[in-house]
Amino acid sequence: MDRTVSAEQYKLGMRSFAGAVCILTSSHAGRPYGMTATAVCSAAADPPTVLVCVNRSTTTHEAMAKAGVFCVNVLRAEDRELSGLFSSAQGSAIRGEGRFRDGHWTHLLTGSPVLVNALVSFDCKIVNRLVHGTHTVFLGEVGELLIGKKGKPLLYADGQYAKLAALAHGEPLPEGLDYWGV
Ligand SMILES: Cc1cc2nc3c(=O)[nH]c(=O)nc-3n(C[C@H](O)[C@H](O)[C@H](O)COP(=O)(O)O)c2cc1C
Repeated sequence: MDRTVSAEQYKLGMRSFAGAVCILTSSHAGRPYGMTATAVCSAAADPPTVLVCVNRSTTTHEAMAKAGVFCVNVLRAEDRELSGLFSSAQGSAIRGEGRFRDGHWTHLLTGSPVLVNALVSFDCKIVNRLVHGTHTVFLGEVGELLIGKKGKPLLYADGQYAKLAALAHGEPLPEGLDYWGV
């Protein structure tokens, strides 16, 4: 296929994608690793499997690839600061273990750090991986799950953080869309 789209154009288009902000963690050789990620989705319910896309240049990628395990911690809107702390893309100079100084962390089956106050944490064993360009797509089978604190998810869209608001009944919507929410 002849490609007419540059990486910059692609990134511009992807800004319209609203994503739930997660912290991906792993543990390798007794050290915790973690990074902010939105390229996370459900891959299957049977067996319970999540899919994550991780840049191969990240330190967390190396830890995940070697350890064969990871945990997806889905952030609450209140945990915006944690998202910044876990991303050098947002200016955090803190790496490795230092990122775990804030938040209440524990672990489940795999030993990957689990954020106790996340909305939910999926503790996974890597069952498949595909290298594509700059990234690796990992499939993780969920061995254990922790339903954490109730709340609203932290979202990221158009280069900024946002939180979810249900659309009220009666609110005008574009033609063809149905009402949802309460
Ligand atoms: C909102 C947001 C979402 C991100 N999503 C991803 C992602 O899905 N995959 C990825 O590889 N990097 C993503 N990043 C970038 C990583 O968080 C960043 O490069 C991080 O510092 C990498 O970890 P390291 O510093 O341990 O190498 C995202 C950053 C932000 C702020």
